[in-house]
Amino acid sequence: MALLKIVTYPEKSLSMPSDKVETIDDGVKQLIRDMGETMFQESGIGLAAPQVGVNKRILVYDARAQNPDDDGPEQQIIALINPKIIQASGSQVSENEGCLSVVDFRADVKRYEQVTVQAKDMDGNPMEFEADGLMAVIMQHEIDHLDGILFIDRISTLKRTMYKKKRLKQLKEETIS
Ligand code: NI
Repeated sequence: MALLKIVTYPEKSLSMPSDKVETIDDGVKQLIRDMGETMFQESGIGLAAPQVGVNKRILVYDARAQNPDDDGPEQQIIALINPKIIQASGSQVSENEGCLSVVDFRADVKRYEQVTVQAKDMDGNPMEFEADGLMAVIMQHEIDHLDGILFIDRISTLKRTMYKKKRLKQLKEETIS
């Protein structure tokens, strides 16, 4: 297992649509395990492959997100391959949403309340499930990553512009110092 480097805005891989996974080979399985380890290390609850610079349609999330009341084993991940939202309904405000790839910024984001997700698991078995509440937010946020969309693309232009300016200034200062 290995920890991967999480890329941050404005890294190019974050704004690129990702390719479908055709074969779940050892490389893909290793990537998934490493993504899981990296996600827990960074205290995330979800992570998409473009966030580690790989433009493949793969995401992982903390298994406990599905059943918040369930004291399941710690650090267990669920991986989804080629996930897509096939149905969405209702609306909710995801308060203070954040992203490991969007440094030092959080915002309220309008999301669907319920989504139905279709995907393949790590063994290539097709799966379909419904998610609501926090799980629905995770699914929308992570699947957006696979389409090159960040949560800051879903907030007001004014807020987004302010964040982008702040971030570019921050990066400039990092380069100079
Ligand atoms: Ni994210």
